[in-house]
Amino acid sequence: MRRGEKGILVAIGVVVLLFGSIKVVRNSSEEASQPDPGIPFYTTASKELIKSGSMLYRQLGCRKCHTLWGIRDPMQSVPSPPMDGIGSLKEEEWLYSYLSAENPQSIVPSRLKAEYKMPSFADIPESDRRILAAYLSHLKVEDWYLDEVKKVEYEKLTGEDYPAAEVDR
Ligand code: HEC
Repeated sequence: MRRGEKGILVAIGVVVLLFGSIKVVRNSSEEASQPDPGIPFYTTASKELIKSGSMLYRQLGCRKCHTLWGIRDPMQSVPSPPMDGIGSLKEEEWLYSYLSAENPQSIVPSRLKAEYKMPSFADIPESDRRILAAYLSHLKVEDWYLDEVKKVEYEKLTGEDYPAAEVDR
């Protein structure tokens, strides 16, 4: 191959590489400009309720077994339903009765060993149960993620796959 030909080939190669990389850059910026659906969980509680509710939640050890804001005690592996979005599934009054029940399993049956089951909080002050129920009822999920929350709740409570028919509804 003569020197001139070699130079032309190198030049063509450089041009091809350049166009290739421009295309890659353009593609990735197109991907980046897709709308980001973001985190589906949010709270509608007032600052005071968030403060008092999350304090009780911590003090009473709820996070030992439940995930909230994606966080749970890393030492625990109880397969309990997450609290993220619980306020889109349950009414405040339901949550209050559940927390007040002597036997929570009479309301939500359990498939777990005694030490993993939802404990009764009937013995804590009524005002604390009210605060907790209100706090939980404000933990909402965006509509587009509601089915996923229902699915996770179902699977945690039953240990079975969410029926496909339910997903399509
Ligand atoms: C020892 C683990 C444990 C602790 C501590 C615990 N829970 Fe639970 N919780 C569970 C389990 C497991 C369930 C599912 C029902 C069952 O198996 O008894 C549950 C169910 C629930 C439910 C019903 C969820 C649904 O989708 O039906 C709510 C609400 C709840 N817990 C709130 C709380 C709150 C609030 C606290 C703290 C005050 C708390 N839990 C502490 C284990 C726990």
